[in-house]
Amino acid sequence: MSKKGALLALLAAHVEAVSFAVPPKVGINGFSYSPLDPAPIGVSLEFFTMPSYFTNVTATMQCLDNWRALTGVWPPIRIGGTTQDRAQYDPSTSAYVVYSVARAADAPMTLTFGPKFMTLAGTYPGSVVLGLNRAKNNIQNTIAAAKVAVAEIKNLLAIELGNEPEYWVKDKQPIASGTWNNVADRASQNDWNIRVGSAIGRTGIIQAGNWNDAPPQWGAAGLIATENATVSQYVRHYAHHNYPGGSIQKLMTHSTTVQNVRGFNADIAAALAVGKEYVLGETNSVSGGGAAGVSMTFGAALWTMDYSLRATVSNISRIYFHQGTIGNCNYCQWGRYTMGAPYYGAYIATAFMAGAKHITALDAGNTNYAAYATFDASGAPLRVLLYNSDYYTGSGLRSSQSFTLTGLTSSTVRAKRLTSSAATARIDQGGEISFGGQIFTNGTCAISGTEVFETAAASDGTVTFSLKATEALLVYLQ
Ligand SMILES: *[C@@H]1O[C@H](CO)[C@@H](O)[C@H](O)[C@H]1NC(C)=O
Ligand SMILES: *[C@@H]1O[C@H](CO)[C@@H](O)[C@H](O)[C@H]1NC(C)=O
Ligand SMILES: *[C@@H]1O[C@H](CO)[C@@H](O)[C@H](O)[C@H]1NC(C)=O
Ligand SMILES: *[C@@H]1O[C@H](CO)[C@@H](O)[C@H](O)[C@H]1NC(C)=O
Repeated sequence: MSKKGALLALLAAHVEAVSFAVPPKVGINGFSYSPLDPAPIGVSLEFFTMPSYFTNVTATMQCLDNWRALTGVWPPIRIGGTTQDRAQYDPSTSAYVVYSVARAADAPMTLTFGPKFMTLAGTYPGSVVLGLNRAKNNIQNTIAAAKVAVAEIKNLLAIELGNEPEYWVKDKQPIASGTWNNVADRASQNDWNIRVGSAIGRTGIIQAGNWNDAPPQWGAAGLIATENATVSQYVRHYAHHNYPGGSIQKLMTHSTTVQNVRGFNADIAAALAVGKEYVLGETNSVSGGGAAGVSMTFGAALWTMDYSLRATVSNISRIYFHQGTIGNCNYCQWGRYTMGAPYYGAYIATAFMAGAKHITALDAGNTNYAAYATFDASGAPLRVLLYNSDYYTGSGLRSSQSFTLTGLTSSTVRAKRLTSSAATARIDQGGEISFGGQIFTNGTCAISGTEVFETAAASDGTVTFSLKATEALLVYLQ
């Protein structure tokens, strides 16, 4: 091919539209449709930080309320993490938590918490998953804490018994002092589920699993295979943790995200086969509090969106994005002073799924271009979300991709765009991210600016939108 021919071919490749047929109703055209939880996206608050998030970080309740305003349901929260297995219950303390750290940015190596910790968690109007200690092998202390939790947290959805047990040998935790491997952990989980569940008199109360290492070595299918009916009655659902990591480009690339989420398919199927839900109980972009150069960027916001949607498409009921140490947390969606980019990804994904009963992916998951559709209670298509995960660093020409939707029934559709200057844009460095022209205010999480809808006329049920590299568009069909 001549140089000119090659250039033309390249240009043609860039402008060629990707096309998605929107099914006229749920359940047809060969797609796989997954039921949606009323509030699939929530947050996980690191155990020792929970009181501060609720009493001393202004943005917390507003950020959660912004999602409630979309869905009508307070987002689910989970309280737990590494410090749940460093924590012991102290019925005599009047403090929420008691610990000391050398620097404010540190997480404590040991801590105690009092009954007020549970009372505070009980003030949250949405569902609460509470992580309690198994690693210290002090089941009486955990049962005492669980009894207060049951009494104080009216929206208690589930209790976790231990966080990421595969790391307890490395962490020199007492329960792992003898032989500790996946087989020992399964037996321990089953034993604790029965003993704690029966002590508090609640069945369907345990969130089992809670590993971070990829399945199947540590995973729900292996655990379920060891559970008899006595254990199973105490398990409400299964959870895994996930931190895919990588560069911004790798993280935000749609096909990479699809591959990552597919790693949970066997465990999801195993949970559904015993009639229980499967959730991502603690997750975010990069482990260990995140990587500033990756987790704080607009690319990570787009990952948060795409990952949430691909997870729900895979029948993962809820996704709890971890919020770690206040003031030392790269992937946090908000902090005391500054918004985090990932909040925008969670917000658009929540807006897309709000009020919907089913979701499907319209793309096969093997390119940079994603399309999702949600359906309402009557089965009619509600919204479509389009994502161009081509990577744009902020310098040089920013390419565009046309997305064509066919099969639409209305003559015009509206859309809101999630955009920024580059995949690398960071709010803490003055970068601006907007959704439908609006931003979330630093320090308060209040939405600000005028909401901007784009409108497009559909001709013969067909409409085409252009998305720049590193951009997403939420299309409202009703
Ligand atoms: C609230 O946060 C500020 C700023 O970090 C800190 O100085 C103060 O001690 C905190 N108060 C409580 C009650 O945690
Ligand atoms: C069920 O499993 C538990 C824990 O794994 C065990 O203690 C119990 O004996 C088993 N019950 C039956 C009926 O097999
Ligand atoms: C999710 O579960 C539904 C049944 O509730 C099923 O029809 C669908 O195929 C599942 N989706 C996937 C991707 O397995
Ligand atoms: C948010 O705060 C950061 C500093 O942390 C600042 O650079 C940025 O301009 C602020 N954004 C807005 C919209 O005020």
